[in-house]
Amino acid sequence: MVKILCIGAGYVGGPTMAMIAKKNPKVKVTVVDINQKRIDAWNSDNLPIYEPGLDEVVKAARGKNLFFSTNVDKGIKEADIIFVSVNTPTKTFGHGAGCAADLQYWEKCARRILELSTSDKIVVEKSTLPVRTAAAMERILDSGKNGVHFDVLSNPEFLAEGTAIADLENPDRILIGGHPTARGKKAIKALVDVYAAWVPKEKILTTNLWSSELSKLTANAFLAQRVSSINSISALCEATDADVGEVARAIGMDSRIGPKFLKASVGFGGSCFKKDILNLVYLCESYGLHEVAEYWRQVVKMNEYQERRFVSRMLKEMFNTIAGKRIALFGFAFKADTGDTRESPAILIARELLEENAEVVITDPQALEHAKIDLADVIDRINFEPDPYKAAKGAHAVALLTEWKEYKTLDYQKIFDGMVQPAFLFDGRNHLDHKALHKIGFNVYSIGKAALKHI
Ligand code: NAD
Ligand code: UDX
Repeated sequence: MVKILCIGAGYVGGPTMAMIAKKNPKVKVTVVDINQKRIDAWNSDNLPIYEPGLDEVVKAARGKNLFFSTNVDKGIKEADIIFVSVNTPTKTFGHGAGCAADLQYWEKCARRILELSTSDKIVVEKSTLPVRTAAAMERILDSGKNGVHFDVLSNPEFLAEGTAIADLENPDRILIGGHPTARGKKAIKALVDVYAAWVPKEKILTTNLWSSELSKLTANAFLAQRVSSINSISALCEATDADVGEVARAIGMDSRIGPKFLKASVGFGGSCFKKDILNLVYLCESYGLHEVAEYWRQVVKMNEYQERRFVSRMLKEMFNTIAGKRIALFGFAFKADTGDTRESPAILIARELLEENAEVVITDPQALEHAKIDLADVIDRINFEPDPYKAAKGAHAVALLTEWKEYKTLDYQKIFDGMVQPAFLFDGRNHLDHKALHKIGFNVYSIGKAALKHI
């Protein structure tokens, strides 16, 4: 029986391994983490992450061929294939602080694998890593003297949060990078076989290691670039009465451009886009490619501009003062269908509103606990309210920051009636029916569209 280990039971490790276990009932899959609380949650009915469809996939395999444990060492000793899916955040110290990837967790894993292994293993980079990290990993793993051989593969993960299970079930592609040597090819085949249990062969792409590593950073950079591009146009739309939704539709019908990822918003969030672009920027800088670095840095700058622009517009439209005004933020997660708030635009927006001495109340169906952690230093100045009606009661403005489905079906007449007049609604996701809201009496401001005002 093939034994798979995954180090890191996070947003990637947990769902990915659950899917592999479900699709390969004859493979034993163990997911380990140093975080006891997380592992306990994976073993409970209350999983540590909110992801539609995840419960079913975990329940189908857990206890049969899927196990969650904190015993990292035992897992390493037993495994034939080790996925490393630990966090690779942006460095906050030393060289490259604020830009480079912090690889300390990854390297610790590599050293532990080396220390404990008594049989040959395939080590798979599942985390997103700078191009050529595998070379460093190989040097560490090859420094052992006990005759154990390691094959390093790159197998980046492309799932998006909120749709992780659908993405894993039916991926656009699986990417596996390895060396073109006989050993490398054998390792690649072993990993291809794991995915071939459910992914059609033509969707399993094999490349050299460096192309695979770089493709992950590039994919995220291109996706984020599309969001920043349409968001830049949204600013121009607001100045000219063009409608960004209409522009996106018109350009998206060009098959060379395509319709996806052209939704103007309050800005992109999530743990990946900003981190991975900055990582790319740092890599380019370190290879002396300053113009290339600057080109990609602009994608992040545009995103920050879009977040700040949202608050400036609120301030300007609400008579240049929001001091003492209650403002209800509808949604705190960085996108719908996740409780994740990492790099959510809502964090900066909440803080900027506090800077203006507004009274901030936050509601979200899944993300309130994370919101409290993100805003721990200002928690005394913020209200957290699970019920959107209560959150909006007595508010001067509602700002919708996450496109939760339930926000479409709220009774906005009731919300309007409970608000201070004139009532303002800022839709940071172009998610609601603006004409209907305007008819109720709201002054409606959306992204990249003309405002619908009463005053
Ligand atoms: P995460 O922070 O949710 O999970 C990482 C886990 O690794 C944590 O639970 C942490 O305790 C554990 N860990 C760290 N060091 C460890 C060690 N030495 N031994 C055992 N466990 C250890 O991170 P994530 O969102 O799952 O992301 C993991 C990687 O996948 C990152 O490189 C990220 O860029 C990449 N990625 C993330 C997504 C996403 O949507 N979140 C998508 C694709 C790729
Ligand atoms: C992203 C990549 O899509 C995924 O392939 C990778 O593995 C991890 O990073 P994720 O961050 O989970 O996934 O979500 P994604 O759907 O890409 O959205 C990222 C951010 O962009 C969200 O804040 C979302 O609201 C925003 N976005 C996305 C827009 O503002 N407009 C769009 O058209 C699309």
